[in-house]
Amino acid sequence: MFNVLLNAAQAMDGEGRVTVTGARRGARAVLEIRDAGPGIAPEHLARVFEPFFTTKPDGIGTGLGLTISREIVNELGGELRAENHPCGGACFVIELPAATTGAHP
Ligand SMILES: Nc1ncnc2c1ncn2[C@@H]1O[C@H](COP(=O)(O)OP(=O)(O)OP(=O)(O)O)[C@@H](O)[C@H]1O
Ligand SMILES: [Mg+2]
Repeated sequence: MFNVLLNAAQAMDGEGRVTVTGARRGARAVLEIRDAGPGIAPEHLARVFEPFFTTKPDGIGTGLGLTISREIVNELGGELRAENHPCGGACFVIELPAATTGAHP
């Protein structure tokens, strides 16, 4: 969440709205983090999870944030993917196995 939110803030130059929504879909918990930045160039969409892929200036981005985030989510049995929202901005979707016990009905 930290990496994805930091990317959103950087994409919007620190100004704009980030919308986080959470829902349960069957056995999955789905989080969507959408920003109001320029979105991801179509030719970059398939590459943003590659280690060291960055479009940020030297010294700002290492290109590891999303690689590490995807690894963490995968280890938890989930998926992390990048999309562009039809109305603009990037949208990152985190799907995780929902808890089967606990307080949530
Ligand atoms: N919210 C976003 N809007 C537009 N482009 C994004 C967004 N999030 C990620 N990207 C693109 O994906 C690339 C890779 O992101 P990633 O978080 O892996 O690395 P980084 O932010 O460049 O560097 P680091 O996270 O290691 O400091 C970014 O450089 C940027 O081009
Ligand atoms: Mg980053």
